[in-house]
Amino acid sequence: MLKKFFNLNKFSSNSWKLHIDDEKILWVTLDCPDRSANILSNVVRKDLNILIDGFTNQSTNNQDSKEVIGIVFKSDKKSGFAAGADITEFKSLASTENFIEQSRNLVIDGWNLYEKLEILSKDIPTVALVNGFCMGGGFEFALACKYIVTVDQPKTKMALPEVQLGIYPGWGGIKRLPYRTGAFVAFEIILTGKQIDSRKAKKIGLSDFSSPPRIANLTCKRLIHTQPPKKKLSFINYLLLGVLRPVVCKILLSQIKKRVISEHYPAPYGIIDLWRKYDGNPSVDLSIHDRIIGSDTTKNLIRIFFLRERLKSIGKVKNNVHGNSLQHVHVIGAGTMGADIAIWCAINGFKVTLQDTSEKQLAEAFSNANKSIRKKFKNKAIVQKTLDKLIPDIDGFGLKIADVIIEAIVENLDAKKLLFKKIEPLVKSNAILATNTSSIRLEEISSELMSPKRLVGIHFFNPVRQMPLVEVIKTEIVDKSVLNATYDFINQIGKLPLPVKSSPGFLVNAVLGPYLQNSMRSVDGGYTPEQVDVAMKNWGMPMGPLELLDVVGLDIMMAAGKVMLKDGDIPQCLEELVKRNHLGKKTNKGFYDWKLGKKIIRKSKALNSSEAFQLAENLITPLIKKTEHLVKSGIVEDSELADAGVIFGTGFAPFRGGPLNYQNKKNKEKVASI
Ligand code: NAI
Repeated sequence: MLKKFFNLNKFSSNSWKLHIDDEKILWVTLDCPDRSANILSNVVRKDLNILIDGFTNQSTNNQDSKEVIGIVFKSDKKSGFAAGADITEFKSLASTENFIEQSRNLVIDGWNLYEKLEILSKDIPTVALVNGFCMGGGFEFALACKYIVTVDQPKTKMALPEVQLGIYPGWGGIKRLPYRTGAFVAFEIILTGKQIDSRKAKKIGLSDFSSPPRIANLTCKRLIHTQPPKKKLSFINYLLLGVLRPVVCKILLSQIKKRVISEHYPAPYGIIDLWRKYDGNPSVDLSIHDRIIGSDTTKNLIRIFFLRERLKSIGKVKNNVHGNSLQHVHVIGAGTMGADIAIWCAINGFKVTLQDTSEKQLAEAFSNANKSIRKKFKNKAIVQKTLDKLIPDIDGFGLKIADVIIEAIVENLDAKKLLFKKIEPLVKSNAILATNTSSIRLEEISSELMSPKRLVGIHFFNPVRQMPLVEVIKTEIVDKSVLNATYDFINQIGKLPLPVKSSPGFLVNAVLGPYLQNSMRSVDGGYTPEQVDVAMKNWGMPMGPLELLDVVGLDIMMAAGKVMLKDGDIPQCLEELVKRNHLGKKTNKGFYDWKLGKKIIRKSKALNSSEAFQLAENLITPLIKKTEHLVKSGIVEDSELADAGVIFGTGFAPFRGGPLNYQNKKNKEKVASI
């Protein structure tokens, strides 16, 4: 192997910091200035290119040129190694006229850069030391190094989330990952964007070592000095990458087809195509790149990425003027919602006391907590620590010391009013007082409080662990400091807060109402539940509306209908099912038959695709109209937030970018066609 030399004085960068130690190892630390996370922006990549070009095979006469026997790439950020490419750069490209052209250049530049890094890694051992998160372009960077060392700590997570943004890992991830993990494991990561922790990374062959934090640097040094051979893939895995690659692609395609339609989500199909034909190299046939990046889906998914960031930023209140550091949550009501809220808060590090009038209900909640927490964490010590945070509290001792109090008792105004009146004198003066009501106006619940401006709505969705959105319901009089502390709290439990005004159904339930009623009316009109649900799923909704109603419970829908609709407006099919006590999943009968929590599939005459699309459009229109109305009437601040709320609260077809975005597009198409 040729000796390599590097002249430190000839390199300068704001982001990459270099140091050669006594053992001739070059430590390259990425530390992007003015950012909390490292981003592989244009400038950072340019500097990396210069760095790679800086290695020479001979020492120049200059005494600053030093021999280097290995390189360790690491990060100085607490957050992690690198968050990937700069999505803001990509977003600004998307608004330019020659977007496709520019996006091609961006991808090809990154591909070439990492190819260069891989070539250098053949001459001189390179190690990526991954401590914390390592996403997208950061992950692909690590793959181009000879060795990957992951630090075994909870924040170490590696993922290729490109597919979730409607793009693809074009900087070599598609090519290199299968050679480390085998094809099926690699594409499970590439096609889902799922996150891998340090131990899992080692287990599947993604990382070469999972190192405890205190010896991570030593592990890197040892790798450079000893250069152990890389772990080999099994023979069958080699065949799957070689002659059997077309078979692998066929299997992957059939799996993808079950999840998404190519017209809605072209990226996963393009990724498989790119790997099968060109080993993941986008520059050989740019038509695949154009097909993926040029789609509306990409623009809409990137828009959703920024909508999510906007909601997160609401939660990152600079001054939590309420002044309390939030540590203890007290939940009242251990039913469906209260129990799940309590478990979620404990999982996110809060001490939680859970109160209910019923001992049986509390016992059931704790049994569920045990199962959920064991499912969530593999590490026994973390399981125990989390379980210890959750305390049954039938007498409500936690009320006096909690920082956040969440009421989740039955949906009954008198019961809620009475409860708040009783607890108000007991709680700390700066504790957040919140209700999880889904339909009652906050002004009514707080009407008998000494300080009604303390009450805020924290409206979680069911199931709590899966739904990212939480509506924060604000009355006209709510104290600003209470609101800020609430946003802060929701951020701390890893949910997205959406501010909405106190009004019937707030945003999400208010828009779902007319959509669900319309779906039931189409059953009254002669369509089968299967025809309605299949039409909506093909349109892009995650679950059909009638299946959703069965899951929520038809009695609950009936109760909501009685509040929100005039007499005679309740769909006939709903009245009949409720009369027969067919309440959905919980009674095993509703619009569908259910067994052991699973829907029983029935045969039903399929609609042709244009009829199904028209039905779906008719069903979704009232949801769109209602969203428009709620923005106009100021219930939600603007159309971006409304789109974000409907997407994260209902699962509204993400590739359509939200109801108002979709309507805008349709309006533009209409104008263009005139
Ligand atoms: P649930 O009926 O499953 O549970 C209510 C619990 O409150 C029961 O365990 C009951 O024993 C307890 N309880 C009643 N009065 C009490 C009191 N004075 N003190 C202490 N505990 C008391 O109800 P669920 O479905 O959990 O709903 C709770 C709240 O969350 C309601 O306001 C509901 O509108 C709202 N919500 C419900 C959603 C759902 O999907 N179920 C979704 C979002 C909000």
